[in-house]
Amino acid sequence: MKPVPIAELRAFVIQVLERCEVSRPDAETTADVLCTTDSWGVFTHGTKFLGDYTRRLRAKGVNPRGVPRIENSGPAWASIDGDCALGMVTAVFAMKQAIAKATTSGIALVTVRNSYHFGAAGYYAWMAAAEGQFGIAVANAIPSVSAPGSRGPVLGSNPFAFAAASAHEGNMVLDISTASVAGGKVMVAAAEGKTVPSHWLVDSAGKPTTDPNLFLKLEAFLTPMAEHKGYGLALMIEILSGALSGGAMRNGIGRFVDPPSKPSNYSHAFLAINPAVFLGENVIGGRLDELFGAIRKVPTASGVDHIMLPGEIERAKQEKALAAGIVFPPDVTEVHRAIAAEVGCPIPDFLK
Ligand SMILES: NC(=O)c1ccc[n+]([C@@H]2O[C@H](COP(=O)([O-])OP(=O)(O)OC[C@H]3O[C@@H](n4cnc5c(N)ncnc54)[C@H](O)[C@@H]3O)[C@@H](O)[C@H]2O)c1
Repeated sequence: MKPVPIAELRAFVIQVLERCEVSRPDAETTADVLCTTDSWGVFTHGTKFLGDYTRRLRAKGVNPRGVPRIENSGPAWASIDGDCALGMVTAVFAMKQAIAKATTSGIALVTVRNSYHFGAAGYYAWMAAAEGQFGIAVANAIPSVSAPGSRGPVLGSNPFAFAAASAHEGNMVLDISTASVAGGKVMVAAAEGKTVPSHWLVDSAGKPTTDPNLFLKLEAFLTPMAEHKGYGLALMIEILSGALSGGAMRNGIGRFVDPPSKPSNYSHAFLAINPAVFLGENVIGGRLDELFGAIRKVPTASGVDHIMLPGEIERAKQEKALAAGIVFPPDVTEVHRAIAAEVGCPIPDFLK
């Protein structure tokens, strides 16, 4: 596969979304989130999802002209109705509200109901870190993850991201699902005809299985990250996003196999914390330099070059992608081809 320049990928995504009646600004916002995610090498949650998004946009299960709006708010909080718009559009809008409120109030929580799949949580957490704040982004998802002892799915793979920037020692962006692995990785294994590690899935009897096809048939479920700990974190996320937003919870969220005309009703929550109100201006960057620098000095095990910060792998991949383009795995390239055919847009150069 030849490397795809990010600008060409972005132009393709915008063109595809505009052909699905999404406005230019919303198409640009969505393209920025998806292309950034691909540039990090997180291919399970970047433009690979565009095929699902376009199907739902065309069938109006996602509202191409949806406008998220603030339903209620105070100095340090807001609740948003996503109007069934693209998840990226609503999530960016919501995190901007949280950052603006935290700038004056010190801390702000924004909940979102009636939204759609928002992709990689790390993008939104990073939006706050880029403004010198700490950011947290969470979302619920259709149940696909078991709880310790369950024989079926209990909660979604509810993602969690936290981001913070230091002055000189780099930044941290922890961006994870609360399942032992994101479901997208099981789908990739199924498409490649591979088995998965036995701690990733349990079957409908609650027993470990290595067959990723059972997951696609809804006959196996992800295990929670670190057993009861991941289950507990996923439940916290369901409470902060689904319960607190007044939106859909658990099976109230649409599944990818549902008709594309059916709204999906995801819920999210975004927290921004302004360190300046706690410590004064321009202090936290140095404190994090001290913390991250000390972590990097911890001796490493044999064969390990250095202790990494969360987000470091993705940032290194992004630097390469910005310089030389993104090298996509074949499954994502196939999706790009299928989308171009489906919406009838000219095949971009990078697919020729
Ligand atoms: N929207 C949704 O419904 C949804 C649901 C689930 C997951 N997701 C997304 O899926 C993506 C992948 O999730 P995942 O659980 O497979 O992630 P993962 O297990 O690949 O973990 C990724 C995180 O761990 C960090 N990391 C990896 N190795 C490290 C090391 N040695 N030292 C320090 N940090 C390290 C990375 O920098 C990154 O922050 C995320 O972007 C997540 O937001 C989205």
